[in-house]
Formats: sequence, C-alpha cells, structure tokens
Amino acid sequence: MIVNTELENKGNLFPLNIIDFKKDVDKLYFTAINDVILELTVVRDSLLRFRYTTVGNFNNDFSYAITKYASIGYNKLEITENEKCYEVVTSKLRCEISKDDMRVSIYDVVDGTLINQDESGFHWEESYEYGGNIVKMSKVSNDGESYYGLGDKPNHLNLKGKRYSNWATDSYAYGKDTDPIYKAIPFYTGLHHGKAYGIFFDNSFMSSFDFAQERRNVTSFWAQGGEMNYYFFYGPKMNDVVESYTDLTGKPHHLPPLWALGFHQCKWSYYPESKVKEITSTFRKLQIPCDAIYLDIDYMDGFRCFTWNKEYFPDPKRMVKELMDDGFKTVAIIDPGIKIDKDYSVFREALEKDYFCKRADGDYMKGKVWPGECYFPDFTNPEVREWWSGLFQELIEDIGVKGVWNDMNEPAVMEVPNKTFPDDVRHDYDGNPCSHRKAHNIYGMQMARATYQGLKKYSYPKRPFVITRSAYSGTQRYTSTWTGDNVATWEHLWIANIQAQRMAMSGFSFAGSDIGGFAEQPQGELFTRWIQLGIFHPFFRVHSSGDHGDQEPWAFDEDVTDIVRKFIEIRYQLLPYLYTSFWNYVENGTPLLKSLVLYDQADVQTHYRTDEFVFGQQILACPVLEPNAKGRRMYIPKGKWYNFWSDEIVKGGKEMWVDADIDSMPIFIKEGAIIPKYPIQQYVGEKEITEISLDVYYKKGKENSQLFSDANDGFDYTKGRYSLRNFTLTGRDNELIINQHKEGKFITPYNTFKVQIHGLPFEIYEIQIDNETISLEHLKSNGTSSFVVDKNFSELHILGKKE
Ligand code: GLC
Repeated sequence: MIVNTELENKGNLFPLNIIDFKKDVDKLYFTAINDVILELTVVRDSLLRFRYTTVGNFNNDFSYAITKYASIGYNKLEITENEKCYEVVTSKLRCEISKDDMRVSIYDVVDGTLINQDESGFHWEESYEYGGNIVKMSKVSNDGESYYGLGDKPNHLNLKGKRYSNWATDSYAYGKDTDPIYKAIPFYTGLHHGKAYGIFFDNSFMSSFDFAQERRNVTSFWAQGGEMNYYFFYGPKMNDVVESYTDLTGKPHHLPPLWALGFHQCKWSYYPESKVKEITSTFRKLQIPCDAIYLDIDYMDGFRCFTWNKEYFPDPKRMVKELMDDGFKTVAIIDPGIKIDKDYSVFREALEKDYFCKRADGDYMKGKVWPGECYFPDFTNPEVREWWSGLFQELIEDIGVKGVWNDMNEPAVMEVPNKTFPDDVRHDYDGNPCSHRKAHNIYGMQMARATYQGLKKYSYPKRPFVITRSAYSGTQRYTSTWTGDNVATWEHLWIANIQAQRMAMSGFSFAGSDIGGFAEQPQGELFTRWIQLGIFHPFFRVHSSGDHGDQEPWAFDEDVTDIVRKFIEIRYQLLPYLYTSFWNYVENGTPLLKSLVLYDQADVQTHYRTDEFVFGQQILACPVLEPNAKGRRMYIPKGKWYNFWSDEIVKGGKEMWVDADIDSMPIFIKEGAIIPKYPIQQYVGEKEITEISLDVYYKKGKENSQLFSDANDGFDYTKGRYSLRNFTLTGRDNELIINQHKEGKFITPYNTFKVQIHGLPFEIYEIQIDNETISLEHLKSNGTSSFVVDKNFSELHILGKKE
C-alpha cells in the first residue's frame, strides 16, 4: 500500500473507537471519537453501501455511476449492539461493525459463512498537495479466493496476484501488461468457499486495486482523493452479483436497433465516397452480410466535428440515403476536441457560451488532437451536454446518419507527457465544481451521454446507436463500446476474448474488439480466427488503421472470404437468439457473455479458465488462439452438450480435444436448448421473416428457452408491443414435449416455426399439436425430424413408437 512521503510524521491514519450511533431510515451513522463517520446504507437485503468521512460531515452525495432506476428496498433490518460491536442484520446478511476500530465483517445470514472482512479496514493519508485524503481500504483475502471484473484490463481473467489502476488512458497498441488503458470500472467480484460477492468502489479519482499481490492475504483498494465510498453486493451466485451491480449502475436504457447486432465494417478511413461505395457494393456482390459502414475522421473538413469534406463527400445526404437503400447504416465518428478556428461555428458558439474547459487560473484548456490545437467542451456541465446533443440535428435528422462513434474521449491529448489534461483543469461536475483529478475518469462517459441524448432526440422514433472508447461504471446505460487500438497479433486475439468477457462481467456487455487488429496487418488465418470469435461478441466490427493494408473479408485469399462469409452468416442466423439474450440483459442485467466461472462457479475447474465462454445462456464457444491449429483442448462445463457441427453429444466436467480446422471452431449447444434462428439475410430487414427455425436439442429432463421479438427498432416494445415466448422442453425415453407460454401484444411477422430436432433417441411415430394428432404426411416434412408448426402452439408432443 502506498506510504506517505509528504507528511513524514502522519502516515496512515485510522478511525478510533465508536462513540455514537444514529439511525435515519435506511442509513446508519457510526461516529468515532476522532470525527470519522461511517454511513452505512442498507440499499437492499443483499446490498450495503459504506461511506466514510474523516472530518465529521459528508460532502454532497453525487455520483455519475448510480442510476435513478436502481431497485431499492429491503425486507428486514435489525440493529443490535453488544459490548464489542454493532450488528446489522438483513434477510441475507449480518454485518458486524467493531466498536474499537470500526472494522467491518460481513456474514451470510443463513449459514454464517464469513464472506468479507476488513483487514486494516478504512484508513487514509492526508493529501498535502491537493487537500482531502488519499482514501484506502484493506480486506482479508481468503485462501483460494479468486477475483474478477475491472472492465477492460487486458490480462488474465482472474485478477488474483495482480495490481491495477483506473485512469482512462489513450493506449495505442497496448499489450497484455499495459495498465491502465481506456476504461475505469472500479468493480470486482470475489469468490471463495463457493460464494461470490462484489465490491464497487464508486470514486472517480484515480483508483487502484491490489488483489493479494503485495501481501498474500490482503486485498486493498484506494483512491487519490474523494471519499471511501463502496457498495457491497452479496450473491452468493456470481451472476446475481453482476446483475445487482448492473441494476445499480444501470442497464442499457433500451434495446439496440437489431441492425446494430449485425456485422459492421470500418477502417481509418474509407474516403472518398467512391471508395465507400466500392466497399459496400463488394459486400453485396460477394454476398457477405453487413449492416453498417463507418466514416472515420477523414470525412470531416480538417477534422472539425459536425462538418464534411465536400471534396470527398460532395452530397452526404444523398450518399447516406443510397447506402441505406442498399441496407447500409452509416456511422460517423465525433471526437471531443474542437478546433480553435474563429471561422468554425461550433467553436465560436462554444466560446461565446463559455462551454470550454478551463485551467485553474482561468486560461482555456488547450491541447493538440487530430485537428491541431483544440479546446474541449466541459461535458460535466448539463448545459453543455444539452448544447452538444443539439449539434447532432443536421447529422442525424437531415443527413440520415444512424450511429455516432465517440473516440479520444479519455480525453486524449497528443504530444504531452501524460496524454491527457493536466490535473488543474476545472469541471462543473453537475454543480459540484472540481478539478480534472476527479472528472477525468467520467469525461468520456459524459461525452457519450450527451451524444446519446442527441441521437435519442433526432433518431426518434428509431433507437439511437452510440459507441464510445472511454467509459466509467454506468456508461453501459447509453452506449456500446470497443476495446481501442489493439494489434494484429495472436496474443491480441487472446486479449480480445478476455476483454469482452471481462466487460460483460463488469456490467458492460455491448462490447467488442477491432477484429483483425487495429495496428499492423493480420495474416488471413488470424483474421479468420478473429471473425470466428467476433460472431460471439455483442459488438461485431472489423476496424483497422489505414496505413497497414486492407482488412475487408476479401482482402486475403478466397478461402478466407468463404470461411468469413460462412461465420458471418451464422451470426445473422443467430440474431433472434442474440436479440433475446440482449433483451434479458436490458431487463435483468444478465451478462451476454458468461465466462466459465460465471456459468458454473461451483466447479473449481472454471476459476482459472480464460478461453471458453457461454454466449447468451446456451451456446458454448471457444476460439482457436494459435496458428496452424487443427483443433484445441478446451474445458467443457458440466452437463451434456451437442457439438454444433456434428450433433455429437459430449459429457462435460472435463478438458478435451475438439477438432476445429480453419473452417470451423469449437461451438457446443447445451442439451435441452431451443435455439431460434433467422434465415440468412444480407442485412437486417432485407427479407420479411415469415418463418423462424427452432433448433431443438433433445434432453432427457427439462430445460427452458425463450424467444423475444418486436419491431426490431423503435420504442413500441416498451408499451407492451413485444412477443415473449417461453419454451419448456421435457424429454423422456420415448417422447418429447415442448410447452409454449406467450406474453405481449406484438404480432410477429412470422407465422410458423420450422422445428428441427437434434439428437432424438427415437423415431417419430406421432406428433400432437395441442392434443390434436397431426398426420405426418400433412407436415412439410424435411427428413425425419424437421417439420413446420403454427407459431401459437401451446403444446407440442412428439411420440415414439410404444414398445
Ligand atoms: C483512434 C481510435 C481509432 C480511430 C483513430 C482515428 O486511434 O482508437 O479507432 O480509427 O483514432 O480516428
């Protein structure tokens, strides 16, 4: 832990004994003799907030991370006191606060397991230079405890034995050990004795986490200023911890438009217009599905945001419309730096309105980015956000751009040692004025939020689509994200896999990497393997920097094009499955990707696995991460799984070799799953979907699956115009029953399901739909186990011959 060097005689300071206790509804105040107060809020039975002051009173309670939509309220709260401690008991937790030193211990109320315990607990150092404190917390790390989370850290999924910092940083060509990089998500999950809990340290200053690195039995976290202010979530299921954190910091405000879950092609940069058209028409010519095309900074006039280079793009509105007619949604980049240029209206307006960030002594914050010297809007000022959102009117409403890509919003500044603003820059922080030390980590989030507000307004009645590079906890409410400037290496393919999983367990599922690598150029094999992984990432985009050659699916050899097409087609077939999972994420905060530990924490074999993950609830995928591979070893989680390619059934709970030549990858389907599939389309909405395929994977026993459908865009689904189909599969030796329960008022364009049964252990003798026997001849029979049924069946009963 950091040692005080400035104040030689003071060092670490600690709370002394508690002399006073007060309760104010859900808030409990414990006051120590040296003016330390612990404010403990019982947010829910399994969610406690701990907040400390060292000066006898608290600053204004304000956080960008916490959503106003978070669920609050507990069933039980009892407070007792004995000689040694106070005890706070809810229906899930018992929390002890020691009277001697304010140290906290938290137990599972049901079985008494000690879940989390302060080691030194809260302590602090005074900050001579800035005022306030460097606030610190240390906790006992249990033998065998594992740690997960923390956003975009590019190293091993299990954080044990590592130390990390959170300070959003532009990190071109970062590596496995680079820290920090673009995002600051100070949330982790701890897992020991089969039980998981989470800690969210809601402090936007630079923060650090040490997971039993410095001392084997201690995990600590600290920040360079602000309050010790953390939330404790109890599972004991890791999935519940992640859902609970996501509920507190916010689920996405709504579903993305379905096209945003399709394939996106990007490059720095496609220009002029003829080049853009050449790319999009090649997709159509080669019949490779694609939904979005990106314009990087060169579409602008001298990199001035909200302008166009009229030489390259003489008539953007016409171009965007023509692209749209061909199924391509245009996404344009917008950076935070505004070029200092008196002839540029955005600059003039912001200057007149006093919207730019300033240094402590009143000068403007000046920094170099793509356009040259720039000033930067203070997105932490609500008035500035409102103004910024208005700037999108022309781009979205008039020109017809469908998505906006926010980049360089750490904020990145070129040619300066720390790559960002100096500490003394002032921010409004929504009426809580502060320096950049406090606002740095949330700057990108507030920019993305302002952009989102603009898109929401001008895209209406359609859904907005935003992408951001920088993020703090809670940013998932507004936008999707990517993992920044990676490199075309096999190690980066490993990193991309880790980062997408880690983001999902950090509440931010709508994430993906620059497929193929941003810097340098991949070989066809690496590109192919990366696409294979990418079809399972919620945000699915190829991007690369211009100077290293082409990175379109046809830039390699024909075999690559064919394999890449095949995998993108699988993504498009799986869209209803992914969309249903996304709906679950938006509704319940359920992560879209589940690392094996998140899928089955009871199996200790999963605690250090990094490569395999579950996409949605029922598809297990594992990328091939090495060149020249004909397959790989992987761990199959417990239960039975169908090999996606061969329908061969494997029994999990063990590591095994799986064949996967370059045209394949290990994919397995959980037995009992019903996977909804679309026909292949070149872009979302190309075809009217009149039939959905249901791939049914026989299981002896029960399994639930879902299918969510709506208009694929717009907000009607929030008013009940959606269709949710819950399927329960029950398999026995000689029969298979599928029950369907329907909800919602949306009339789906599809009327039938094409049922395809996999792994049926008997020959079909009879099929009954809602108790009526269907003559097998009358079914559009396609082989022995495929048939068409009306979408509104309640019970589908498939029988084998009686012995
Ligand atoms: C940054 C972004 C990259 C983009 C480039 C030019 O490096 O991370 O994605 O292409 O800037 O805008």
